[in-house]
Amino acid sequence: MITLNDRFAGSFDVAPYQEIVTKIHRMIHDKTGAGNDFLGWVDWALNYDEEEFARMIDAAERLKDRTDVVVVCGIGGSYLGARAAIEMIKGLYPSTGPEIIFAGNTFSGTYMKQVMDYIKDKRTVVNVISKSGTTTETALAFRILRAHMEEKYGKEGARERILCTTDKARGVLKELADREGYETFVIPDDIGGRYSGLTAVGLLPMALAGINIREVMKGFLKANHDLNTDDLKVNDAYRYAVERRILQARGYDVEMYVSYEMQMRSYMEWLKQLFGESEGKEGKGILPDSVIFSTDLHSLGQFIQEGKKVLFETVIEVKDPGCAMVVPEDAENSDGMNYLSGKKLDWVNAQAMEGTLKAHYETGSVPNLIITIPDMKAETFGYMCYWFFVACAMTCYMLDINPFNQPGVEVYKKNMFKLLGKPGA
Ligand code: PA5
Repeated sequence: MITLNDRFAGSFDVAPYQEIVTKIHRMIHDKTGAGNDFLGWVDWALNYDEEEFARMIDAAERLKDRTDVVVVCGIGGSYLGARAAIEMIKGLYPSTGPEIIFAGNTFSGTYMKQVMDYIKDKRTVVNVISKSGTTTETALAFRILRAHMEEKYGKEGARERILCTTDKARGVLKELADREGYETFVIPDDIGGRYSGLTAVGLLPMALAGINIREVMKGFLKANHDLNTDDLKVNDAYRYAVERRILQARGYDVEMYVSYEMQMRSYMEWLKQLFGESEGKEGKGILPDSVIFSTDLHSLGQFIQEGKKVLFETVIEVKDPGCAMVVPEDAENSDGMNYLSGKKLDWVNAQAMEGTLKAHYETGSVPNLIITIPDMKAETFGYMCYWFFVACAMTCYMLDINPFNQPGVEVYKKNMFKLLGKPGA
């Protein structure tokens, strides 16, 4: 369903890595490596909670005709997966389902004010998401949102429109939800933030947006089955993990994710979190970045083509973007574009990709890996998530890094809490 092509990246002899890949494959599946108590995502497709899954679908059904906008309130792993999914699957200006917007991912007061003005006269649902329940950005935004909801709908009405996704037993948010009688959904103990997009963290917002989450889980399960092999000739996710290690050994310390589809921007934001937060430790790792082409060919394209040779590109190619938009004929040809009349815009986009691959690799000596996905549908999203999860775990373990913690994230918080005068800081 997803393939890796390295014809624009140079030659790779991956065979010598088979032994280490086999060893790490066992470590992942036997849960014996560093961070092994956060490997719940490996079997999640097989043992997720069916009752809770049905509750998510029920909540979405119950609310869909009474809701204009859903505010998803969370940060990092508690919102990036949902945003990636909703934009990838529904596009940027969807005409069906409630609109999904995001809060709790910034301290910016101007942004929060815009959110509050935007939802003021709209029928609103809030889904607050926080595993720890203490993340300051999310907690502050939720305080403002909760006050608004209670003022607008009364305590009882707000209860019907606030959904909490958090730890099953612990934390301030769980206590608050129990006290107020909000419906709760669980973030499993053994699945960390950036690997939680296929739990209620991502699935509930997707369901609220009108996405068929059964299709998402179907893809996640299929990938779980297809990628349960250590064979580098079969498992392209592992080959990708190895090739990025080889590329780094060749001096490429930056990975530029590339998509030719605007609605993949947030997916790449989530990839940046997945790889950056998993791998960037102990002075090691590849720095992930992302661009949309051809848009950013008119900005960063210059650096990629001729700048310092620090980066390789990983292109996420969509085989069938699913749109039949055609360039119309213009009798006067006043813009000189008639040579493209009747051609699909997607065909033009594909030629831009082919031309860019040649420009960047053959002329610019920038290696390009190509990951091809069939479409931007729900099943593909689910499949892709597992594909990148195992690739990320493999590539981090190859570097002797724990892929599942993020100790560095605490440093800014410590300083900030002191400055804010947080008790005990
Ligand atoms: O990947 C991670 O663990 C982080 O990005 C967290 O998801 C993020 O900090 C939010 O944490 P929480 O869900 O506890 O509010």
